[in-house]
Amino acid sequence: MSEVASKGLEGVVIAESAICSIDGQKGILRYRGIDIADLAPHTTYEETAYLLWFDELPARKQLDEFRARLAEQRELHDSVWNMLTSFPCWPQPMEALRTAVSALSSCDPNAGDETPEANLNKAMYLTAKLPTIVAYYWRHSNGRERVHPDPQLGHAANFLYMLRGEPPSPLEERAFDMAMVLMAEHEMNASTFAARVTASTLSDMYSAITSAIGTLKGPLHGGANARAMEMLLEIGDVGRVEGYVTEALAGKKRIMGFGHRIYKTTDPRAVVLRGMLCEMDAQSENPHWCNLALNVAETVHAKKGLYPNVDFFSAPLLYSLGIPTELFTPIFAMSRIVGWTAQVMEQYKDNRLIRPLSRYVGREDRPYVPIEERHE
Ligand code: ACO
Repeated sequence: MSEVASKGLEGVVIAESAICSIDGQKGILRYRGIDIADLAPHTTYEETAYLLWFDELPARKQLDEFRARLAEQRELHDSVWNMLTSFPCWPQPMEALRTAVSALSSCDPNAGDETPEANLNKAMYLTAKLPTIVAYYWRHSNGRERVHPDPQLGHAANFLYMLRGEPPSPLEERAFDMAMVLMAEHEMNASTFAARVTASTLSDMYSAITSAIGTLKGPLHGGANARAMEMLLEIGDVGRVEGYVTEALAGKKRIMGFGHRIYKTTDPRAVVLRGMLCEMDAQSENPHWCNLALNVAETVHAKKGLYPNVDFFSAPLLYSLGIPTELFTPIFAMSRIVGWTAQVMEQYKDNRLIRPLSRYVGREDRPYVPIEERHE
């Protein structure tokens, strides 16, 4: 047994995986061997899902069939919708998503079947329905009618349509699709690890994904994107950046959207998202976010040597699309679902129970003292 605990499991390899690789020194991220700097500008979310699940880029006919299969499964079963709308108090969107995913298995005809084919069907079922849950729940909790999915629209465009009630412009669709692609997978991050631990007990995919959603929610992980946006809104103006960053660092506050366990340079996802944000901003009537975000990134780097991660530039990009900050982390979850499910299926393929150790540092050899003999 190792004498030294690796706090936060830093540097510990817990699995062999053929899904995703990261070079944290050079800032390179690859999905199934393809650099995301090459993939993201050309692909779509559906094509990326296919790549992650099947380890191949689909031919045209395969992609068309795959897209159609996903699109036809978008609608939510009435029993899940009724459950979502019957909470006595309103949960936050991420809590609603976590609960809905747990309940989805009850209506999935593949639930209970643990064959690889059934698990792939579950992955599709979840991927198709997560955006519907997020959009429906948001509209409902804001007193608005649901907008049902449009099977003619792509996965990303359909979500914006269900959320806002009108289809996005081509630029908005491209920006959102790209953001979803960049959030789709990221090796052995905390939520993926949680999913794999659950799957390693041979529990079902719904339980694994529920674990992952609960883990993504935390502010040190996926929850950072909403907080990064709150920070940008609070700063508001380029003239306030220096003062804000100096004060935050002096107060030992964590600056959300900066730093990463693996990347020792700019997160490559942030590079692509930064380009997209600035392209959108350049076409907007009131360009604002690109300049402000670049300024914050430069200042944080100059003062603390930290680089932006995926959450920093995805936040103003989603905000520019009219998406409320409360939905940023649920959108991360509905993007990451293809990565989580790919990782869960890989875990099942060559499973061994994940059961690490802890090093005991508590008191040793204590006798049991009867309650009559104990003192306050
Ligand atoms: N702001 C200020 N200081 C920071 C930040 C930050 N964002 N990130 C790291 N540091 C500092 C820490 O205070 C610590 O300093 P110290 O040694 O003087 O105490 C040092 O850098 C190391 O920090 P750790 O937390 O040990 O590094 P770790 O690898 O565990 O942290 C993490 C990675 C959690 C992402 C961290 O950088 C952080 O808290 N960032 C802000 C939250 C965030 O953006 N999370 C999203 C990450 S991407 C994703 O999950 C999708």
